Amino acid sequence: MTIAAHRRPSAAHTGDAPRTFPEHFLWGTATASYQIEGAVTEDGRTPSIWDTYARTPGRVRNGDTGDRATDHYHRWREDVALMAELGVGAYRFSLAWPRIQPTGRGPAVQKGLDFYRRLVDELLDKGIEPVATLYHWDLPQELEDAGGWPERDTAERFAEYAGFAADALGDRVYTWTTLNEPWCSAFLGYGSGVHAPGRTDPAAALRAAHHLNLAHGLAVQALRERLRPDARCSVTLNIHQVRPLTDSAPDLDATRRIDALANRVFTGPMLRGTYPDDLVTDTAALTDWSFVRDGDLEQIRQPLDFLGVNYYTPTVVSHDPDRAGHGSDGHGASAHSPWPAAEHVAFHQPPGERTAMGWAVDATGLYDLLLRLAADFPRLPLVITENGAAFDDYADPSGAVNDPARIAYVRDHLAAVHQAVQDGADVRGYFLWSLLDNFEWAHGYSKRFGAVYVDYPTGTRTPKASARWYAEVARTGVLPP
Ligand code: NOJ
Repeated sequence: MTIAAHRRPSAAHTGDAPRTFPEHFLWGTATASYQIEGAVTEDGRTPSIWDTYARTPGRVRNGDTGDRATDHYHRWREDVALMAELGVGAYRFSLAWPRIQPTGRGPAVQKGLDFYRRLVDELLDKGIEPVATLYHWDLPQELEDAGGWPERDTAERFAEYAGFAADALGDRVYTWTTLNEPWCSAFLGYGSGVHAPGRTDPAAALRAAHHLNLAHGLAVQALRERLRPDARCSVTLNIHQVRPLTDSAPDLDATRRIDALANRVFTGPMLRGTYPDDLVTDTAALTDWSFVRDGDLEQIRQPLDFLGVNYYTPTVVSHDPDRAGHGSDGHGASAHSPWPAAEHVAFHQPPGERTAMGWAVDATGLYDLLLRLAADFPRLPLVITENGAAFDDYADPSGAVNDPARIAYVRDHLAAVHQAVQDGADVRGYFLWSLLDNFEWAHGYSKRFGAVYVDYPTGTRTPKASARWYAEVARTGVLPP
């Protein structure tokens, strides 16, 4: 992947004319198991690393946990009805590994599989395409106790679990994603510790990244052995659109370093079959990468039907010899950096509008990212598997939830996607994060990303204005000016 040295605004993203998307463009909403399901002790489910982390005092804001979340485990039929009412054609959700294989080893649990079979059948019945993610961060705690992602065995266990999932659901789910944002699992989970399991060991984070890559490659093979030939396999990466603060050589070098640690550490092995030389050199003081065994890279590089891309905000960096002014990289507060061996890189939030996460609103980042991916991997279709924004939504006295800022955010980002398609990027779909307000990891329930408002004490769901707006765009395939 080349360095993105362009800080200039990209091609215009707003205009006077309606924008029509390609005919078979896939429109969806997305969620993840721990963020919505609740019912953490039901039907044989055992704790995942997020149950443990959330119960550790001081880890999650307000001491929130996913114990109940949106109670989707009991309200799933209502949630599918809501999707059907909105009329959005696809739904991206994740399977909870600790429901299907509670200890991460041994046979699959039928009740866990049955939950997802019922969900999928209901989706299909309503004409909604299911898109299943195998891993959205809920590692069985017993596997973490055995060493977690820094250990090779976790990758092998994951491939076994992938096989169980495909055996049970492969006759009705045709679109699969192995991992969601492995960058977060490795570098927030084992580097800065702001995600479960909360470890702060940069060398372990690099080992975790490799074993997540290996898990992906082994799981794709396990899926392909079982799925229909026309099934689609993918991975979702939170590719960072890394931009230098200035065009100085040190800032460009900081951009290169972060691009390696954020992006190429995954796209290198998964899509090119190699770790980038500069990454290996940059991290030499931490590891000799001897955990990469002969044959691993062939296992990791598997043909994919599309690459899932999650995008929220760009990442602006500069070289900072003193580490003074080390700004937030938007990934949470920790004394430990998620970026191994990048001590002299400072992060900057661009000026201008922010979401409730403190993330800059900048759709040009999405446009640039899509064009870079199209240039670097020309034959690989792209799907936006997440994009959206948290704002401080509330129900007005009439019960309505008006969220014009979210509508503006999504409109600008969809315009950027449309422009990227016009300019040659092969983007096949867009999934709004999220269907529902939910458990936003270390922020607990304080951040609302949903198109549908959830009143947590009662569980009542209320579609926000953005839900109706998005449903209309999805139904017509036309983005109004
Ligand atoms: C990415 C993650 O996949 C999702 O779980 C999270 O809620 C959103 N980003 C928003 O932070």
